[in-house]
Amino acid sequence: MANSKMAKRSKPSINTDKTPVDLLTAKQAAAEYARLQTEIAGHDKRYYQQDAPVISDADYDELRLRHNAIESRFPDLRTFESLSLRVGAAPTGRFKKVRHAVRMLSLDNAFAEQDVVDFVGRIRRFLNLPEDEKITFSAEPKIDGLSMSLRYEDGELVTAATRGDGEEGEDVTANIRTLGDKEVPHRLKGRNIPRITEVRGEVYMTKADFLKLNERQKAAGDTIFANPRNSAAGSLRQKDPSITASRPLGFFAYAWGEISDKSSKSLPADTQSGMIKWFEHCGFKTNPLTKICHSVEELIAFHRQIGEERARLDYDIDGVVYKVDRLDWQERLGFVSRTPRWAIAHKFPAERATTILNDIEIQVGRTGSLTPVGKLEPVGVGGVIVQNVTLHNEDYIKGIGGKGEILREGRDIRRGDTVIIQRAGDVIPQVVDVILEKRPPDSKKYKFPTKCPCPLKTDVVREATSAGEEGARNRCTGEFACPFQKIQHLILFASRRAFDIEGLGEKQIELFYENGWVKEPGDIFTLKARNAKLKLEEVEGYGETSVRNLFAAIDERRRISLERFIFALGIRQVGETTALALARGYGTWKAFHDAALKVAKGDEETIAEMDALDQIGDTVIQAIAAYFSEKHNLGIVERLTREVTILDAERPKTDSKIAGKTVVFTGSLEKFTRDEAKATAERLGAKVSGSVSKKTDYVVAGPGAGSKLAEAQKHGVTVLTEDEWLALIG
Ligand code: IVH
Repeated sequence: MANSKMAKRSKPSINTDKTPVDLLTAKQAAAEYARLQTEIAGHDKRYYQQDAPVISDADYDELRLRHNAIESRFPDLRTFESLSLRVGAAPTGRFKKVRHAVRMLSLDNAFAEQDVVDFVGRIRRFLNLPEDEKITFSAEPKIDGLSMSLRYEDGELVTAATRGDGEEGEDVTANIRTLGDKEVPHRLKGRNIPRITEVRGEVYMTKADFLKLNERQKAAGDTIFANPRNSAAGSLRQKDPSITASRPLGFFAYAWGEISDKSSKSLPADTQSGMIKWFEHCGFKTNPLTKICHSVEELIAFHRQIGEERARLDYDIDGVVYKVDRLDWQERLGFVSRTPRWAIAHKFPAERATTILNDIEIQVGRTGSLTPVGKLEPVGVGGVIVQNVTLHNEDYIKGIGGKGEILREGRDIRRGDTVIIQRAGDVIPQVVDVILEKRPPDSKKYKFPTKCPCPLKTDVVREATSAGEEGARNRCTGEFACPFQKIQHLILFASRRAFDIEGLGEKQIELFYENGWVKEPGDIFTLKARNAKLKLEEVEGYGETSVRNLFAAIDERRRISLERFIFALGIRQVGETTALALARGYGTWKAFHDAALKVAKGDEETIAEMDALDQIGDTVIQAIAAYFSEKHNLGIVERLTREVTILDAERPKTDSKIAGKTVVFTGSLEKFTRDEAKATAERLGAKVSGSVSKKTDYVVAGPGAGSKLAEAQKHGVTVLTEDEWLALIG
């Protein structure tokens, strides 16, 4: 993009105080260019490989624009590794690599209307079109998800690969298959399907599902995702497809890679819009807002219209994409290094607003972590009223990022500050900057509390990382004595996903706790017996009927499934999926409880047994050990178990040949998906494990099986082919 345009951009910029690129000396340019390369590469890694970006997309674009502007003024700086020639970041190395038959490319960005005018002008010049020749464009929303290439051979889905660095991506086929046929057809519909068909598009998670997922993650003490895009990426990058299966992901088809047939190489349509229709016939979803436009004015109107609809859409978009509709023209236009000449992404400006930070409050979570929350003078950002903003942790307030980098050029955040906030990824509002000129003269640096805000005022410590270093989180040391943590646990306990006690929500639990009526889970079940004294019906807001209903709701939950019971204990790292895996693995509360107590004592055999369960690893085992080493917890569990009946987990079939056996699936299975194999094995009473040990009974190996096969041979475990497995299970 030409550097002269940088000055025209009107959007707020993190670089406005920088020397304009036109005025940089060659030496200054070389130094800044090198610095930008390192910085951008760092952000790429965090974004593409760790799903944990530390700057907004808009700020990233700004860095990249500046980088490209310097490069186009000083082309000699460009090296073979230049970022402008690279797309995304190299694969993470956890999944098998897949070389794309046709490179997966990126799009150039337009921010200002002038950029769109220039884009259309360039096309017209390149194709040498007369002024009166209309150019038809397919204008599409730019979905903020994860690009995916789906390869079909003879109509069957064979590979699903992420973009990776554009040349090579990661093989996430098993995970993509869990999306369901309506999102990604396992077999293409219709007749005359080319022998090779690569359909490309975006995997995304809806905003509603993202919020629900984060709630679940929070309750389980798991990673909180920054935005729907990261949660979609995180969900796909699971080693265990059953986790992906539990995450609702969608797919919009909008592009293609290799499409070829024995006889000819011709495509099923000769326009972009025709290809989109064809994808629909094949069984894909395409974006319903896609529109044909014939002029710059129509393109800009489309950008405005979609921008207005953006807040109402249930998925995140970060702009719109314009593509020349005629494929013969696309072919002639070709590519400039990493981006096509025939398409451009017209980005939305980041949604920002300026307001006052009235206060900083500390919230204490169930596991004792202290999170600062900014209380704002309410302000509208992109159609939503924002009143709270996350301030992450102590360092963030000081102006230090997660990797020790300087944020907001080191400006700290104080009560009374005028702040610029942004709804990153459309969902979680962040403070992007502080306006120092508006800072009240008597303002003081914010001091992170050294005592928990709970009535006990216990000490607060900086949590250690797994490497033993000081982490970013502050944690209350009150553990089980901290009433805030207890309340959070009780809320989780009674919540829909745990004991699901109707009429016992956050407000009621706070009231009951503060009055000393319910201090721990078991107390909920003794409320009725104690009511002769408590007389809940005389409490404001309660009457005889609501008290009767509450007691009935509590009684209804005296019989509880094992997985819900384990989840409700609030053991760190044990979310619903893990609780289910433990319940299925042990079958009864007694078996699980005995094992947990042994694990807490460091019994190696029991640890190995637990480790052999699918989805259970070190972190979970450590968390279980920590929980069951704590006398206080043992008391809570003991008193609770006296009040409830814990039902055994669904009994696996015992009359099959594999009942009670432990099976490991490895290699790329061809006869069934890993998901299906696992479900069948479990239905027939087998345990499916992720790793081979001497306790493994069978290893079912598909092509490409590696270390697990070697492990099986080492332990003398029976190895079966897929056919032998099918014969065994009948
Ligand atoms: S076309 C050769 N169309 O945006 C160009 N991309 O910044 C192929 N994206 O990697 C991409 N919605 O992940 C295209 N309607 C759309 C899109 C779209 C989202 C993503 C895609 C791409 C990135 C480029």
